[in-house]
Amino acid sequence: MKRFENKVALVTGAQRGIGYDIARAFAAEGADVVMTDVSAEGVKAAAAAIAGETGARTLALAADVTDYKDCERSLEETFKAFGKLDVLVNNAGVARDNLVLRMKEEDFQAVLDVNLKGAFLMAKAASRSMLRLRSGRIINIASVVGQSGNAGQANYAASKAGLIGLTKSLAREFASRQVLVNAVAPGYIRTAMTDGFPEEAKARLLEMVPLGRLGSGDDVAKAVLFLAGEDSPYITGQVLAVNGGIYM
Ligand SMILES: NC(=O)c1ccc[n+]([C@@H]2O[C@H](COP(=O)([O-])OP(=O)(O)OC[C@H]3O[C@@H](n4cnc5c(N)ncnc54)[C@H](O)[C@@H]3O)[C@@H](O)[C@H]2O)c1
Repeated sequence: MKRFENKVALVTGAQRGIGYDIARAFAAEGADVVMTDVSAEGVKAAAAAIAGETGARTLALAADVTDYKDCERSLEETFKAFGKLDVLVNNAGVARDNLVLRMKEEDFQAVLDVNLKGAFLMAKAASRSMLRLRSGRIINIASVVGQSGNAGQANYAASKAGLIGLTKSLAREFASRQVLVNAVAPGYIRTAMTDGFPEEAKARLLEMVPLGRLGSGDDVAKAVLFLAGEDSPYITGQVLAVNGGIYM
């Protein structure tokens, strides 16, 4: 039997990148997977690709995590399709990097809205059934930058540090109902964006990583599945760093 057979997982921001890899990993382990994203076309194609590759049941939803109505609808559609929700992964995220002196107020707000408020709204929507059933896992995708800070990313770092505080508070609120809440904090993960860096910048980045390589979406997915599954029944309110040792 696969690890996540008869389980339902919802991943936000899943049309590409790390969210896609997390959704695929759940599907490969037998879960029914709900994938949400702001791009209707993109998430539909991604869900079809994963269903085709793994044979799992997938559901694609166009939904914006900053809109509570969309969050509630995501839960309703999940229940209509699969009857329950076992695992919520708050992965949707954006960056609008700039030095503070040049950062516009709306760029600060937009990043906080998606990365932090979005996770709060999805957790709020999902918690109703999880608390009632006294079972569930919530995993928030934070970032090493939320732990270390980063010049040029004040908005992003603040949102991810806030997400860690949200994770610990949800963990405390939900613990008595056996709903476990943790964060995964990735370091530098290979994506379309990092692939596009100049060779020199890539080499400089690699010098900072003790394990000598960038991470992959699958590296992050493995940590998420660990925190979502049977091997972590006594872990809540923690931040699991998946960063190749770049920050300890
Ligand atoms: N790539 C890295 O090196 C890295 C490192 C640390 C943390 N992270 C975090 O991992 C997560 C995924 O990052 P990625 O590199 O795959 O990024 P990505 O940009 O490839 O994927 C993010 C997805 O979120 C979606 N999204 C954006 N706003 C949304 C909204 N309002 N509602 C729903 N979906 C929305 C986007 O459409 C996109 O598909 C993010 O939270 C990011 O902050 C990434």
